[in-house]
Amino acid sequence: MDYSERVVDHYTNPRNVGKIDDASGVGQVGNPVCGDIMKMYVKIEDNIITDVKFKTFGCGAAIASSSISTEMIKGKTVEEALALKNSDVVDALGGLPPVKLHCSVLAEEAIRGAIADFYRKEGKLTEDEIREKCHIKE
Ligand code: FES
Repeated sequence: MDYSERVVDHYTNPRNVGKIDDASGVGQVGNPVCGDIMKMYVKIEDNIITDVKFKTFGCGAAIASSSISTEMIKGKTVEEALALKNSDVVDALGGLPPVKLHCSVLAEEAIRGAIADFYRKEGKLTEDEIREKCHIKE
């Protein structure tokens, strides 16, 4: 399997690893098939993602996806972060092998989960509104 230079870079030198103690929201997702787990912490101030950190117990592609996605949403608005798709993550990484595409989906879902958690804590939206806004299907 060939990995792009950017995947190798983000895997060997991941950005924004760790946790945020006073996070505005935390999202955790897992893939039941491979068993990999990704946890994303976001700090949101005035609708801007001011900080984001992650912990990923998973494969190299999942670690690279989490790392690059934190860079992609930091400093962005909540809406811009919610608009991030796994295909954007894959493009930013310079591609992923087809069997590794699901690893980038974890990053998209973990970010949405963290923002959904923020909305729940904020208590202004109903659960249905949160799920719609954060594109949570199940
Ligand atoms: Fe499952 Fe990468 S193999 S997240």
